[in-house]
Amino acid sequence: MAIISWREQMSLNYPPLDSEHQAFMKVINQASEDIKKRHIEGMEKMFQACYDYVRNHFSHEEDIMERIHYPEMEEHIASHQLFIKNISQFRQEFETADTVGKKLDASQKAMAFLSVWFLGHLISRDKPMKPYLVRLRNLPPRMNY
Ligand SMILES: [Fe+2]
Ligand SMILES: [Fe+2]
Repeated sequence: MAIISWREQMSLNYPPLDSEHQAFMKVINQASEDIKKRHIEGMEKMFQACYDYVRNHFSHEEDIMERIHYPEMEEHIASHQLFIKNISQFRQEFETADTVGKKLDASQKAMAFLSVWFLGHLISRDKPMKPYLVRLRNLPPRMNY
C-alpha cells in the first residue's frame, strides 16, 4: 500500500515540477515496499533516486526561482542543502553497514525522514512558489547552447 498518495493540494499547477514531485513520491512508495520485503537492491535504488532527485529536481527548481526572482529563494535553497546533508548521512550509514540488518536499519531511518520531509517540503517550501510560477509565462523561451 502506498504511504503517500497524490492530492490536488500538492499541485503547483505547473506540470514539469508536478511530474517530478509525483515521480519522487513513487520512489518513496516503492522504497517502503522494498524495505518491507528486505530487498537490499531496492534500497540501493532509493538512495540513488534521492541523489538523482537532488541533481535534477533541485537544480530545476533553483533555476526557476532565479528566473522568476522568487523572494523566498534563499530559504528554499537552504532547505534543499539541508536535505542533501541529511540524506548523505543516511546513505553513508547504509553503505558502510556490514549486515543486512544494519542496512535495513539505515534504510528505515532514511525512509522515516523521506516521507516526512517530502510532504513538509512540498507544502512549506515548494507550494508557496505557485503564485509566482505564472511569471514564467512572461519570460522568453530558454535558450540552451
Ligand atoms: Fe520540489
Ligand atoms: Fe524544493
